[in-house]
Amino acid sequence: MESIRVRPYTTADYPLICELDAPLFSGMGGPVLFRHIEELFPSLFFIAENPDGKIIGYILGGIHLDDAATGKLIRIGVVPNYQRMECGTKLTETLFSTMKRRGVAAVHLTVAETNIQAIAFYQKIGFTQKERIQNYFYPDTARLVLWKTL
Ligand SMILES: CC(C)(COP(=O)(O)OP(=O)(O)OC[C@H]1O[C@@H](n2cnc3c(N)ncnc32)[C@H](O)[C@@H]1OP(=O)(O)O)[C@@H](O)C(=O)NCCC(=O)NCCS
Repeated sequence: MESIRVRPYTTADYPLICELDAPLFSGMGGPVLFRHIEELFPSLFFIAENPDGKIIGYILGGIHLDDAATGKLIRIGVVPNYQRMECGTKLTETLFSTMKRRGVAAVHLTVAETNIQAIAFYQKIGFTQKERIQNYFYPDTARLVLWKTL
């Protein structure tokens, strides 16, 4: 959808992003994660807005300190009433083009093997599964590890 705008995150977005994130990720550490990312990777943190300027999604990534050619998609979320409108696609395009300009050649992520919708999304945008890790998150959560070449 053309009217969705992606812009850099600012610290003023923090409270609202925490609110949007809680139901999408069942409270899985968003408030802590966002503070770390805004300090460590501020240029890899983006917000999606609808035409009224309302925040409808976010994406955050990182680059390996010991391997600058490898990036990670750390978290992406789109509010339910804006899903399937290309918001996630736009957020990933923005993150990946920024990473590519900084020399990243490949990106990885993990996703719960039960998150069928997210897996379908990642496959659509070019990720392929390389691994499955049992007990990736405490306690006992299996995750699929997906990779994409930029
Ligand atoms: C995964 C997520 C970010 C996708 O964002 P989105 O804005 O809905 O994705 P897009 O509209 O850009 O989808 C692009 C394509 O991905 C695929 N896709 C996206 N959501 C899908 C779903 N629920 N079921 C099947 N395929 C899906 C489709 O092929 C879609 O193209 P189409 O709509 O033309 O068929 C969003 O569903 C979300 O926030 N989910 C909850 C949080 C989450 O699970 N995040 C990932 C954790 S690892």
